Amino acid sequence: MSALFFKRFLQRPFQIASIMPSSKALVKRVARKMDFSQPRVIAEYGPGEGVHSREIARRMSADSKLLLFELDPAFCRDLKRQFAGDPRVHVVNGDAARLPEELEHRGIPHCDYILSGIPFSILEIKKKRALLEKTYEALADGGSFIIYQVTNELRQHATLFHRADSEYFLQNIPPMFITVFQKTNRLNGHRRPLRRTAELSTNHRSA
Ligand SMILES: C[S@@+](CC[C@H](N)C(=O)[O-])C[C@H]1O[C@@H](n2cnc3c(N)ncnc32)[C@H](O)[C@@H]1O
Repeated sequence: MSALFFKRFLQRPFQIASIMPSSKALVKRVARKMDFSQPRVIAEYGPGEGVHSREIARRMSADSKLLLFELDPAFCRDLKRQFAGDPRVHVVNGDAARLPEELEHRGIPHCDYILSGIPFSILEIKKKRALLEKTYEALADGGSFIIYQVTNELRQHATLFHRADSEYFLQNIPPMFITVFQKTNRLNGHRRPLRRTAELSTNHRSA
C-alpha cells in the first residue's frame, strides 16, 4: 500500500475517497480500453499518486500528451517529481473542470481519451452535470470517457454520450465498475447533430 495515499486519505477522506490506489490488475484492464497505436491526447482526472498515469505514459508514443488534473497538492508535488523528465506529461494542480481552459492554453483542440478516478458519486449534482458536459465537449469525435468507480451511478447522468459499456471488475479492493462512454457523432454514415445545452438539460432532468 502507498503510504502517501493513505496519509492523504486521512487528511481528505471525501476527496480521496479510497484508502489505497487502484490495483495493478485494474490499471492494466483500464489501459487496455485505450488504443495506443497512434499519437494520443489523454487527460486524467484524479490521478492520485499516479498508478494509471505511469501505465499510460509507459504505453503512449513519444508524440502523445498526458494532462493530469489533481486537486491534492501533495499528490501534485509527487506527480511533478515523477514526471519531471517527461515532456509529454503535464501536471495541473486543480479541478478536473479546468480541462477546457488547459486545452485552449496549450492549443490542443480535443482529447482522444479522458480517464477519471474522481469520486463522481459524491459530487453535487450541478457540478457533476457541468463536468460531464465539459468532458463531452473536450473529446474528439470517436473519443472515449473512461471511468472506474465503486458504483455505476454516473451512467444515468451521462446521457450525452452515444454509447456506454460497463464491466464489474473484481480484482481490486473494493471491486469497481469500469465504464467506457463513447462520443460519436456519426450514425449510419451521416453526421449526427449535437444536442443543444437546453435539450441536454431536459434529458438530464428526466434521467
Ligand atoms: C479514488 S482516488 C483515485 C486515485 C488514483 N487514480 C488511483 O486509481 O489510485 C481519487 C483522486 O481524485 C482526486 N480528485 C477528487 N476530486 C477531484 C477533482 N474535482 N479534480 C481533480 N482531482 C480530484 C483526489 O484528490 C484523489 O487523488
